Amino acid sequence: MNIETATVVSCEPAFEGARIIWLHAPGAARATGPGQFAMLHCSAEGLDPYFARAFSIHRVDGQRFAILFNVVGRGTAWLAGRSPGDVVSLYGPLGRPVKLPRDPGNILLIGGGVGIAPLVDMADRAVVAGHHVVAMMGGKTAAHLLSASAWPREVEYLVVTEDGSAGPKGFVTEHLGRYQEWASKIYACGPNPMFASLAGVLRGNGRRQQPEILMEENMPCGWGMCYGCAIFTRRGVRLCCKDGPAFRLFDVF
Ligand SMILES: Cc1cc2nc3c(=O)[nH]c(=O)nc-3n(C[C@H](O)[C@H](O)[C@H](O)COP(=O)(O)OP(=O)(O)OC[C@H]3O[C@@H](n4cnc5c(N)ncnc54)[C@H](O)[C@@H]3O)c2cc1C
Ligand code: FES
Repeated sequence: MNIETATVVSCEPAFEGARIIWLHAPGAARATGPGQFAMLHCSAEGLDPYFARAFSIHRVDGQRFAILFNVVGRGTAWLAGRSPGDVVSLYGPLGRPVKLPRDPGNILLIGGGVGIAPLVDMADRAVVAGHHVVAMMGGKTAAHLLSASAWPREVEYLVVTEDGSAGPKGFVTEHLGRYQEWASKIYACGPNPMFASLAGVLRGNGRRQQPEILMEENMPCGWGMCYGCAIFTRRGVRLCCKDGPAFRLFDVF
């Protein structure tokens, strides 16, 4: 287990309600694989809030990695207040790395809100491995979307908004269009209702793509000690932190 005191490189707005923080953390950055996450102690003394918070690795660049996060409570508010040079204690990377397909193919990434976070790092790696990548992001409005410049140039990036202010109107799972046939593999990350909707859309024709989802259950410890993140799957009870966070969509929904 890699335990590290990271130094904040930058902490800036990413889109409405979300920020991106870059951390200098050579141990975690070096060891990270696709879809993994880190646990960050979101307080100076690590006492309030007591439990570390889980965040997907959004991007890796040499000895640094980025977290893309929504400010939803005390821990994330503390993180949002960090400045360059501040320190953040963390442990990770955690979770099983996602196994990208060995043979180059067509990868469809589907992100709901800040659930897009791990998919950018996966896109970076998939492009290097020779895959064609289409990324789709759903957000409330145009202001709630990740900028196109956040993606590798090779990625085709499509957006959907609930109010129609950018891209088609509705939920991202309603607008997969021809990409659900085009894809040889699908990965998604977002809230559980998005996964349920995706399962409904893909149940008819998407099984061959073995869609995988990155789940975000509440995680007190992050490494299999507390059983606080147990989920029911068709293969039995699994720990989201240790057995996941990636699961087959149709094993869970
Ligand atoms: C594997 C994993 C990866 C994650 N990746 C990201 C990410 O990349 N970006 C991001 O913004 N968030 C991510 N989350 C969610 C993130 O952990 C929570 O937003 C964070 O813990 C909230 O902490 P807080 O102290 O600000 O909020 P709190 O005050 O603790 O809670 C505020 C709200 O957030 C919910 N919440 C609290 N902890 C979690 C949790 N662990 N998972 C889900 N919801 C939670 C609570 O139910 C409550 O509604 C991830 C969670 C997991 C398990
Ligand atoms: S978070 Fe403790 S077992 Fe998964």
